[in-house]
Amino acid sequence: MKSKNLAKKSILIIDDSPTNLELISELFNDSEFEVCIAPDGEVGIKKAEVERPDLILLDVIMPGIDGFETCKMLKKNPATKDIPVIFMTARSETVDKVKGLTIGAVDYITKPFQQEEVLARLRLHLRLYSLTRTLEEQNLILTEEIEKRAIAEAALRDFARELEKRVEERTAELTRALHDLQAAQLQLVQSEKMSILGQLVASVAHEINNPVNFVSGNISHAQQYINQLIEHLQLYQQYCQEKIPNIEEHARHIDLEYLIKDLPKIISSMKIGIERIRSLSVSLRNFYRADSLQKLAFNIHEGIDSTLLILGHRLKANNERPAIEVILKYGKLPLVKCYPGQLNQVFMNLIANAIDAIEEKDWKSVSIPTIRISTEVIKEDWVAIRIVDNGCGMTPEVKQRLFEPLFTTKPRGKGTGLGLSISRQIVEEKHGGRLTCISEEGEGSEFVIELPINSPSE
Ligand SMILES: Nc1ncnc2c1ncn2[C@@H]1O[C@H](COP(=O)(O)OP(=O)(O)OP(=O)(O)O)[C@@H](O)[C@H]1O
Ligand SMILES: [Mg+2]
Repeated sequence: MKSKNLAKKSILIIDDSPTNLELISELFNDSEFEVCIAPDGEVGIKKAEVERPDLILLDVIMPGIDGFETCKMLKKNPATKDIPVIFMTARSETVDKVKGLTIGAVDYITKPFQQEEVLARLRLHLRLYSLTRTLEEQNLILTEEIEKRAIAEAALRDFARELEKRVEERTAELTRALHDLQAAQLQLVQSEKMSILGQLVASVAHEINNPVNFVSGNISHAQQYINQLIEHLQLYQQYCQEKIPNIEEHARHIDLEYLIKDLPKIISSMKIGIERIRSLSVSLRNFYRADSLQKLAFNIHEGIDSTLLILGHRLKANNERPAIEVILKYGKLPLVKCYPGQLNQVFMNLIANAIDAIEEKDWKSVSIPTIRISTEVIKEDWVAIRIVDNGCGMTPEVKQRLFEPLFTTKPRGKGTGLGLSISRQIVEEKHGGRLTCISEEGEGSEFVIELPINSPSE
C-alpha cells in the first residue's frame, strides 16, 4: 500500500470518461482531499483493495461492469466493504437510485457538479463514516467489556456460593466440635464427681464399719447375757416364793412378764438391723472401691449385687406400681480383668435406667414390673451381662440417639443424658468390649454388655 498523506483524506474516483475524471479531479484542487482515479470497475476494485481510500466516487453507467455491479463486488470484499461509496449520475440519466442505495451506496451526486455541494457531501459522509467506525469500535469494546463483566460476575457468584458453602460447612463443624467439647467437659466433670463421691462414700463406709463391727460383735454377747439374766430371774421366781410388796409393785410397774417376752425379740431385730448396715457398708465399699491404676480380677456378680443393694430403696412398691421383681440368673463366670469401680458405674446406670423406664409405664395392668439380669460366658473368653426390663421401651428416634452425650428424654434435673455415653465409653474404650441395646416401644428394653475376660492393660 502506498504511503498516504496522513493529514489528507483519500478519494478514489472510478469513471470511464476521461473528461469527467479531469473535471472531478479539478474540483478537488486545493481541497483537503487526495485523489486517485480508475477508468473502469475492475481497475477500481483492485485499486480500492490496494489503496484503501477513505471514500469512493463511482460512475453508474460504464462499459464492462457497471457501477452497481462494481459496488456489489466492493461490498462483498472484506477489505473494501466498509468504504463509503457515492454514485455519480448525470442529471439527464434515468437510473434506479433506490437500487444503488440498497446495494450499499451511501449517496448520489449529480453531474454537472457543484463544487461546494460535492465537497460538503463528501465531508459529511466521511464524518459519518468516521463516527460510525468510532461507534463500532466502541461498541466492540463495550461488548467485550460486557462479556468480561459477565464472566467476572459468574465467577463472583460461583465464588460467593463456594464461600457460603464453606462457611456453612465450617459452622457445622464448629457446632459439632463445640457440642463434643461440652459433652467431653461434662463427662469429665461427671467422672470427677463420681470419683470424689466414691472416695467420700468409701471413707464414710470405712468409718461406719468399725463401730458397726463393734456393735455386731457385741450384740451376740449381749443376747447371751440377757438370756442368762432372764433365766436367772426365772430361777428366783421359781425358788423364792416370798412375796415382797416393793418387788411385786416394781414388777407390775415395768410389766415384767411382757418385758421378758419382748426383750429377746428386740435384740434379734437389732441383730438383723446391724447386719443390714454391715452388708450395705460392705457394698458401698465394694461399689465405690477406689480404682487402682491397673485392672483387677473382679467378680462381676459381686458388683451387680452391690449395685442392687444400693438401689434397693427404688425397687420397693409405691403408689404408682407394685414392687419391682429382680430375677437373677447368674452363670458360672470366671473373674474378669477390669476396673471394678467403673464397671459398677455401668451396672448402676443401666439398672437405674431400667427402673426409670418402669416408672414411665402405666402399671394398672396385671403384669409385674421386672428386671432380669443374667450372665454367661460367650465365645470362650468373653462374658455377657444382660439387663432386661419390661418398662416403657423406646421409640425409633430414641433408639437411634440414646448413646449420644447429653441426649435425654427425662425432665430437667432428673437426667443429664450422660449415663449411657459414659457407660459405652467405659465398656468399649476402657475395656475393649461392646455395649448394645435392643428395644421395643411399649414392651421393654434389653442392654447387653460384652466384655473380654482378659482385656489388655491400657
Ligand atoms: N432401659 C431403658 N428403657 C427405655 N429408655 C431408655 C432406657 N435406657 C435409656 N433410655 C433412654 O435413653 C436416654 C438416655 O439415657 P442416659 O442414661 O444416657 O441418660 P438419662 O438416663 O436420661 O440421664 P442420666 O445422665 O441421669 O443417666 C434416656 O433419657 C431414655 O430416653
Ligand atoms: Mg441414665
